[in-house]
Amino acid sequence: MEKTDLLSRLNWFYTLELNQIDLYMAQSRNFIGSYESIVFERTACIEQEHAENIAAQIRKLGEAPTKLGDMLSPILGRVAGSILSISGVENTLKTDILIEQKAISDYTDLINTIGDDYGAELKKILQHNLVDEDTHTAWFSMRLADYDNFVLAEP
Ligand SMILES: [Fe+2]
Ligand SMILES: [Fe+2]
Repeated sequence: MEKTDLLSRLNWFYTLELNQIDLYMAQSRNFIGSYESIVFERTACIEQEHAENIAAQIRKLGEAPTKLGDMLSPILGRVAGSILSISGVENTLKTDILIEQKAISDYTDLINTIGDDYGAELKKILQHNLVDEDTHTAWFSMRLADYDNFVLAEP
C-alpha cells in the first residue's frame, strides 16, 4: 500500500474517532443519570484512546494528524440530519451501531490490505481498535435487544 493512501486512511479513522468522542459525550450528557450515560462516557474514553493511537501512528509516518471534517453524516446518510434531535435510547443505540459497524468494516479492510510493509505494531493497533469497536457493537446490540424484548413482552 502506498504511504499516501495509508495516511489518508489513517486520517479518516482519526477523524471518525474524534467525531465519535463528541457523539458519545453528547449522548452521555443526554442520558445523564442512566446506566447508558456511564457506558457512553466510558465508550468515549476508548474512542479517545483510538484517536491518540492512530494520531501516534500518523506522526510515526512523518505527518501531522489532520481532522477531515464530519465523518458521521456520510455514514448515516439521510438519518444524519436527525442525529441531534434523536431523543430515545433505542434510536441512539441504532445510530451508534451503524457507525460502529462502518468502523469495523473499514478497520477490517485496512488490516487485510495493509500488508507487512508498515510493521507489526500498526497492524496490532488496528486489530485492537477493531476488537474495541466489536465490543461496543455487541453491548449496544445487546442493550437494544433488551428494549425489543421489553416491547414484545408488553400486553
Ligand atoms: Fe474507535
Ligand atoms: Fe467504538
